[in-house]
Amino acid sequence: MKKPVLVATSRFIQPVEARIEDEYEVRRKIDGTTFNRDELLAACEGADAVIITPLDRLDADFFRRVPSSVKVISTYSVGFDHIDMQAAAARKIAIGYTPAQVTDATADLAILLLLGASRRAFEAQELVRSGEWTIPRAGTLLGWQITGKTLGIFGMGRIGQAVARRARGFGMKIHYSNTHQLPEEKAGGSVFHADPLELLKVSQHLSLNAPETAATHHFLNARTIALLPAGAIVVNTARGGLVRDEDLIEALKSGRIAAAGLDVYEGEPKINPGYIGLKNAFLLPHIGSATIETRTNMGMTALDNIDAVLARRPAPSLAKILLH
Ligand code: DGY
Repeated sequence: MKKPVLVATSRFIQPVEARIEDEYEVRRKIDGTTFNRDELLAACEGADAVIITPLDRLDADFFRRVPSSVKVISTYSVGFDHIDMQAAAARKIAIGYTPAQVTDATADLAILLLLGASRRAFEAQELVRSGEWTIPRAGTLLGWQITGKTLGIFGMGRIGQAVARRARGFGMKIHYSNTHQLPEEKAGGSVFHADPLELLKVSQHLSLNAPETAATHHFLNARTIALLPAGAIVVNTARGGLVRDEDLIEALKSGRIAAAGLDVYEGEPKINPGYIGLKNAFLLPHIGSATIETRTNMGMTALDNIDAVLARRPAPSLAKILLH
């Protein structure tokens, strides 16, 4: 039987690559570089499906020009802010994503950032590795304890809830803001704020876990930072576009925000150079879902979505246009 033609914009973890080789006629750039727009459209000619990552921006122009042979595009991510969903719908192209697969790994990383920022892990690492750690001093590298503190979670979907479960284990009090209030079995005693600005006022620590939409773009900016308790600590594992970088950098410099833990950046992999010299910024290169288990599950689900759409079966997870 003829194999479906799949365009792959990236290389994936080995078991996913083995399945791609086995089940599809794959088209990709053999030199390992990324497709530019015209190359990607040319590769899509006669193809059935495309597997992409958040680094591939598929806008209205892409969907106007994509060949009609393409029936499904599957992104290897929970986020689909890089895809113009209206334009995809207009071309009747199904969009697969991998929401359930990334939850635990991303929530774990939020806790790593929360602790890393709160306990000044970057400076501590530097002290050890530079050989400057000579005499023990009781006052060296004092951080901020998280026990008993209030963690505000902006965006209480799967990942926000998983962050809350973990943070409760550290004795934190959880407040959250979300598009809707959660039933108690999901809220687990967390305090709901219908108005996100009210959430900010109580958030000694703040974790950003909302998708990036027109409504959440630059949610954290000079005006909203001013609402946080002085010396708050901010963590972002969601999308860089939730933060206005210049304003966060300014607040980190002045100490208005004591520390930040960031895994995502607007315009990544380019990052605002203002972050680089800040010792109170604990920075990671978008590795929220980077575990062997999660990346395998993400890849397999991305392919399951493609197989289901091509076979006209219900797919495990198709993305829908976000209304907020
Ligand atoms: C996601 O799944 O959206 C993560 O950010 C990894 O790309």
